[in-house]
Amino acid sequence: MTSKAAPVIFSITSGKGGVGKTSLSINLAYALIHKGNRVLLVDGDLGLANVDVMLALSVQINIRSILESGTDPLEAVVYLEQNLGVLPASSGVPEMVNLGPDEQAGLAKMLKTIMSSFDYVLLDTAAGIGPSVLWFNSFADHNLLVLNPNPTSLTDAYALIKTMSKNHKRNQFFIILNYVRNDHEDLKTYESLEQASKKFLDLELKYIGAVPEDDEVNMAVRKQTPFIKNAPGCKASQAVNALAEKLMRL
Ligand SMILES: Nc1ncnc2c1ncn2[C@@H]1O[C@H](COP(=O)(O)OP(=O)(O)OP(=O)(O)O)[C@@H](O)[C@H]1O
Ligand SMILES: [Mg+2]
Repeated sequence: MTSKAAPVIFSITSGKGGVGKTSLSINLAYALIHKGNRVLLVDGDLGLANVDVMLALSVQINIRSILESGTDPLEAVVYLEQNLGVLPASSGVPEMVNLGPDEQAGLAKMLKTIMSSFDYVLLDTAAGIGPSVLWFNSFADHNLLVLNPNPTSLTDAYALIKTMSKNHKRNQFFIILNYVRNDHEDLKTYESLEQASKKFLDLELKYIGAVPEDDEVNMAVRKQTPFIKNAPGCKASQAVNALAEKLMRL
């Protein structure tokens, strides 16, 4: 098993909602543990948590209850496998989206307490460019931006990139294309985002891979299980395994 001094923190983010962040985060977490890593998956969708639903977890303590009641954060981590911990969030709590300075400090302290025993931390963010999304992205070492081939996904991703670069001095973003049907056409969509980012923001995007549209993804969501477990040989599982390899080399 690899053992690093400090974990590498990735945010999985998008701007646009529903592009596959949570699904990819969960499956990337499994792919990384299968490659010998210890992974902490954090549900960063603080107002509309989904990780627990997608994994059929029974959650007792979540990020909100730790912030509010000072519970030991180590007690909140749900272990799905020996090397895979999940830090759940709360749902139906809109005020959690507008993280104030005290909550931000509490969240940073909480994560630092938990993450030292992991090799990788995956932060699954909410959609949008609200305070909690920006906070998780600035806390991460690397931002993985998930796009689908729709124009609205590009404009929302551009808005997020622009905000992160102007307000948080981020100048590098890693791009994952999801729902890919036609590699060539879909790559062209991404290239327009790359060109706009270079021309107007003077920053480089790094394309790290694509995940095809695959019915196994929806089937697995319905079964509340990761597709990489439910259908390890499917196209989406193969793509996520390849992505995990790339993340380990960043
Ligand atoms: N590659 C894919 N092929 C087919 N369906 C997919 C794929 N990726 C995601 N989906 C489906 O898209 C839906 C949304 O996925 P998911 O909840 O992971 O998106 P999200 O970006 O986390 O959404 P939100 O912004 O609401 O948090 C799910 O029903 C999922 O099954
Ligand atoms: Mg989500």
